[in-house]
Amino acid sequence: MKRVLIISTSPRKNGNSDSLCQKVAESAKGAGAEVEFIRTSDYDLHPCTACNGCIKTEDKCVIKDDMPVILDKMIKSDVIVMATPLYYFSLSAQIKIVIDRTYSCYIKDKNPLENKKWYLIITAETTEKSDLKTAVDSFKGFLRCVPGSTLQDVLYGTGTSISGKANSDKYFGQAEKMGKDAAAE
Ligand SMILES: Cc1cc2nc3c(=O)[nH]c(=O)nc-3n(C[C@H](O)[C@H](O)[C@H](O)COP(=O)(O)O)c2cc1C
Repeated sequence: MKRVLIISTSPRKNGNSDSLCQKVAESAKGAGAEVEFIRTSDYDLHPCTACNGCIKTEDKCVIKDDMPVILDKMIKSDVIVMATPLYYFSLSAQIKIVIDRTYSCYIKDKNPLENKKWYLIITAETTEKSDLKTAVDSFKGFLRCVPGSTLQDVLYGTGTSISGKANSDKYFGQAEKMGKDAAAE
């Protein structure tokens, strides 16, 4: 059974990223995967300070927060789905905190995050898919540093407004497919 971890990094509870993640989770569960959905804003997370504490100890990050909990879940998963809103045509600071805090894995001889399948969901007000290219490229830059990673698919949740009710429902079909595919990886 595939272990699928879904991480929404939007600070907006039940916003566009969360609702697409929920759909992916339901679909992956329905397809037989062991699924966990988490929201990073439910955790106490701080940015990497580049203190090299992980290099000196050759082990863990020295920052005392909830990142070890998230990292443990990531390491134990076969498939990781990450969702972020587009902020200033780039990745959100919230997803970048998680990415940068995997540095303690990067500096190891054998990266414990290697050989996983990844999916990315980006929600954005813009209706132009090409406006999301910088964010996708930035995420690919992360995966370039994790041996054996593959970015299986990207859901471009364009035209999803921040005002009022989350309006990502038009992408539910794509999210369902992502969930099924993730369970089958
Ligand atoms: C600080 C901030 C910056 C944003 N920058 C952009 C942007 O550059 N381009 C864009 O299309 N939408 C931008 N948005 C809108 C969100 O990306 C969009 O509404 C998204 O669907 C919100 O996702 P969420 O509901 O999961 O938080 C921005 C929103 C915020 C709060």
